[in-house]
Amino acid sequence: MNTELPLVAAPMAGGATTDELAAAATSAGAFAILAGGYLSAAALDERIRAARVWGDFGVNLFVPGTDTVDGTAFARYADALEGEARAAGVELDPVPRTDDDAWHEKLALLCAQPVPVVSLTFGLPDRSDIGRLQRAGTAVLATVTTSTEARAAVEAGVDGLVVQGPSAGGHSATWDPNRRITDGQTAPLVSAVRAITALPLIAAGGVDGPASVTELLRAGADSVAVGTLLLRTDESGASATHRAALASPAYTDTTMTRTFTGRPARALRNGFIARHEAHEITAYPAVHHLTRELRRRAAEAGDADRVHLWAGTGYRAAQTGPAAHVIRALAAAL
Ligand SMILES: Cc1cc2nc3c(=O)[nH]c(=O)nc-3n(C[C@H](O)[C@H](O)[C@H](O)COP(=O)(O)O)c2cc1C
Repeated sequence: MNTELPLVAAPMAGGATTDELAAAATSAGAFAILAGGYLSAAALDERIRAARVWGDFGVNLFVPGTDTVDGTAFARYADALEGEARAAGVELDPVPRTDDDAWHEKLALLCAQPVPVVSLTFGLPDRSDIGRLQRAGTAVLATVTTSTEARAAVEAGVDGLVVQGPSAGGHSATWDPNRRITDGQTAPLVSAVRAITALPLIAAGGVDGPASVTELLRAGADSVAVGTLLLRTDESGASATHRAALASPAYTDTTMTRTFTGRPARALRNGFIARHEAHEITAYPAVHHLTRELRRRAAEAGDADRVHLWAGTGYRAAQTGPAAHVIRALAAAL
């Protein structure tokens, strides 16, 4: 990661990280990580081909989980969402759907056509998979949310860590989706992980300006990733509904929620969360598939109250304008 600035454009799956956003961040001196999650291997291949034109970059993958879904709990949750679905004209499928996010296909692609960096979230794959990527010449980064995960990732032989604090927007990278993630800052976690390892560390979570960048570098990070601060930029692929909500006075807080996908994620606290947090369940990606069409329709209709409005705690600082301005402004205090 030989970049001009110690900054990383964090991977944001689901549309937010566009080729244009990654390219703009790169041209401003940051390192961009493409979001491989939710994409087919063929679609990821296209994104990688486009990225090779503008230089060094990384690719992020979701590591598939091994938990089985409790069918009864899932049916109960689907039942609780019935009213929402009916109002939106969506039919819910009460049978849990699972998938591995095309893990094997994407791994085969990345081994056949290696990229400089692969970052992993939601867990650690078999050591053999890490080894295959490394033998292909790729630096493998594991995303960790605790010191315990950091230790396990170091032992598994990864090349670096993304240290994600609980204030980060979007899905928590936690390896244990049942874990209750309490609010907190990223810097103390970075210091704790730095005490364990000399590997390169990328800190992520809650960055709201240049002061947080310097704080995380001082805590021991080699570079700092930003996600939420890029969501409202010209090049972001976030929906108009999501962008507007980030700036709306109607949303005054973020919270960790499993209501939308069955995995903890930080979002602006909206009506959907308020209505369903009491009976949310841990079942990813089954709940993701269950609510997907509902969320898509709501976003299309501008109904922010039924959309997963992923946001880190620094969302109030998310500005419109070119992404390059955001990157350069973050570097102001360096
Ligand atoms: C809309 C959105 C989508 C995200 N998607 C991913 C993803 O696909 N993979 C991943 O490892 N992290 C994902 N994240 C987390 C970011 O990579 C990063 O850790 C986080 O944005 C940093 O915190 P911040 O949002 O406070 O800057 C996502 C975050 C957001 C806001």
